[in-house]
Amino acid sequence: MTAPGLFVSFEGIDGSGKSTQARRLAETLRSHRREVVLTREPGGSPGAEEIRALVLQGDPDRWSAETELLLFTAARRDHLERTIRPALERGAVVICDRFADSTRMYQGLSRGDLRAVVDQLHALVIGVEPDLTVLIDMDPAAALTRAKARNTAEERFEDFGLPLQQKMRRGFLDLAAEFAPRFRVIDGNRDEEAVAADVLAAVSPALR
Ligand code: ADP
Ligand code: TYD
Repeated sequence: MTAPGLFVSFEGIDGSGKSTQARRLAETLRSHRREVVLTREPGGSPGAEEIRALVLQGDPDRWSAETELLLFTAARRDHLERTIRPALERGAVVICDRFADSTRMYQGLSRGDLRAVVDQLHALVIGVEPDLTVLIDMDPAAALTRAKARNTAEERFEDFGLPLQQKMRRGFLDLAAEFAPRFRVIDGNRDEEAVAADVLAAVSPALR
């Protein structure tokens, strides 16, 4: 993006430690006096948070893959207009827990072969990518154990189970190769501090 800020997304399978690392990075950059907007998808603006409840709660077959794609994309458009773009224009660092790569994976790969539709819709109504994407790569079984331990109402996707997690892990690594210039792949199978140090080392060169 051409705005003066920096747009960083975190990606990875459920339970890989994205939220933990996004929060830690935000705290570190704030301690260095950067303005940071820590946000997430689906969500990140009032309207998008309402859509979040629709897509993450209820039966796994509540929505078709196509309907789900439209809902996630509608949420993203609102988030971009109301939260992300204004923050980048102010010069803030935007740290976003998941962005369009999650749609490429979850709707584009896991629930039918919708990747071409995902990319067309993205080009039509979103049209931006993060400056940097941190992929926390993580053993799928361990990540699922971590995610299940949280025990929230937002389990619609976690209910798909281990085979989905395995497919997603592979898919994220393939995506990192496809978009190599903006991706940084970090080993998440370690303690929080070790992962956080690598995240900071990956993001620091992009901060002026
Ligand atoms: P995600 O946002 O990718 O789903 P979270 O950051 O919410 O993952 O982490 C999932 C769970 O695992 C949380 O309970 C969190 O405290 C724990 N966790 C996060 N990072 C680590 C780590 N490096 N080692 C052990 N547990 C972790
Ligand atoms: P999230 O709250 O990040 O879950 P977790 O912390 O467990 O990783 O995201 C919720 C779920 O939404 C997650 O299973 C992935 C899914 N998702 C999509 O299917 N498509 C999308 O475009 C996004 C942003 C998320």
